[in-house]
Amino acid sequence: MNLETLNKLALERNDQTILGLFDTDTDRAQGFSISTGNLLFDYSKTQIDADIRNALIRLCDEAGLADRRTAMFDGAKINETEGRSVLHTALRNLDGGPVEVDGLDVMPDVLDTLHRMRVFAEEVRGGAVIGAGGSFTDVVNIGIGGSDLGPVMATHALAPYHDGPRLHYVSNVDGAHIADTLRQLDPTRTLVIVASKTFTTIETMTNARTARAWMADGGGDPAKQFAAVSSALDKTQAFGIPSEHVFGFADWVGGRYSVWGPVGLPVMIAVGSNAFDAFLRGGQAMDVHFQAADWVENMPVLLALVGIWHRQVLGHSSRAVLPYDQRLLRLPAYFQQLEMESNGKSVAMDGSPLTGPSGPVVWGEPGTNGQHAFYQLIHQGTDVIPCEFMVAAEGHEPELVHHHRLLLANCFAQSEALMRGRGLDEARQLMADKGLQGEELERQARHRVFPGNRPSSTLIYPMLTPFVLGQIIALYEHRVFVEGVLLGINSFDQWGVELGKELATSLGPVVDGEISADGKDGSTAALVAYALRHRD
Ligand code: F6P
Repeated sequence: MNLETLNKLALERNDQTILGLFDTDTDRAQGFSISTGNLLFDYSKTQIDADIRNALIRLCDEAGLADRRTAMFDGAKINETEGRSVLHTALRNLDGGPVEVDGLDVMPDVLDTLHRMRVFAEEVRGGAVIGAGGSFTDVVNIGIGGSDLGPVMATHALAPYHDGPRLHYVSNVDGAHIADTLRQLDPTRTLVIVASKTFTTIETMTNARTARAWMADGGGDPAKQFAAVSSALDKTQAFGIPSEHVFGFADWVGGRYSVWGPVGLPVMIAVGSNAFDAFLRGGQAMDVHFQAADWVENMPVLLALVGIWHRQVLGHSSRAVLPYDQRLLRLPAYFQQLEMESNGKSVAMDGSPLTGPSGPVVWGEPGTNGQHAFYQLIHQGTDVIPCEFMVAAEGHEPELVHHHRLLLANCFAQSEALMRGRGLDEARQLMADKGLQGEELERQARHRVFPGNRPSSTLIYPMLTPFVLGQIIALYEHRVFVEGVLLGINSFDQWGVELGKELATSLGPVVDGEISADGKDGSTAALVAYALRHRD
């Protein structure tokens, strides 16, 4: 990525404030925002002006973004280190034409599995499929990473539509997670879904075996009360899950992109197949927009370019995702995997080292909670943290409309405060109004200065419906894709998680006390020794 022009522009614009941009361009809010469907993405509270945007857009052409986008949607093997296509978009291609991988149309299989999911979900919801003790009151999804974060996020997000059995998620291998979950449940009326693309992930398989033993010991029937979601159908069979309860998907669905298919089964059981369809249609609508819109009108592209401007040009190493939407409380964690597992790479597709920074650290919490915690640093800390606000124009609680107005006011106030800041003179005046004078006035005033000129963007949507959630998730997926193309990396592998897994496997018998820690570094050996000493 050649950033020469952008670096030059950044230097030239060093003294240009965001507020100043609004003074010189009264239509800035319209000129630097994009709508698609009912979503509005406003990036006018950044330092991006027309020249910067043009230079950013040129990066798309230089990187061959249009061809890469076509390659992805057409099923080319763009995940080159694993030799795989990247086709999560096929999972929501409800009205689309054929999608070929190796000359074969994958859509019949996709639609057949979707149909089986719908039938199964409605049978569970309606009590046609039951456990040893009767209809299912609870569903436990056992999975981790992409087999957990997407459904957890969507289940919280779609709470107003949740009219199926209660849902629980177990991911951590820490026995506390499964113990605390199962303790409250009836083993004869609980459905367990084991979600694992590979069906080898140690956390998931350990939890699945524990759940199976709990169910069998408690009078449940694992042969009837387990379902599986996986690409490894031989392994689900070996585990003893009947084939009619197994929902497969192909290796061209990456884990962190998998919520649209069988991994979304628990969500479908919770909210019903119609609401799940609406979620898919929202994703599909964003796919259509992403493929059709010019770069300057293209929401995922502009969201990506704002990210590139902040991270690769200005060097801001982290990005806060701040949904003013309590039901999006797991969205930051979901985006963490989506963005950091995809674009946290230091080599380009051809194996050469990246010459600039990889993707940023992504983190966040719902507002307004964050305001009473880490916003202090965002406003007055020494690092600039670009913020991505999200909020619905309307909540789901008409009787609590006054809450929602406060929520909106807080969201809008934060981006305004970040941009506007408060100068020393104003802070001095505030202290003078309080009766302070002299050195004490000066000292106190300095603590109340806000540097301002801190960038943010806002995504606003009418209401958090299944359709809107689908739009938002697909928007961010494509954003990550665009950033990856511009960086020249493979956004679809995740080799960086492997070394820790290998070492954990080799440390298993050491922690069990079966073999010694000889050969390990001093710190690791000492930690093992401590754990062994304090056991029992
Ligand atoms: O360890 C990382 C990872 O492979 C993720 O990419 C994936 O989402 C997660 O583990 C779970 O993998 P699986 O679905 O195969 O259990």
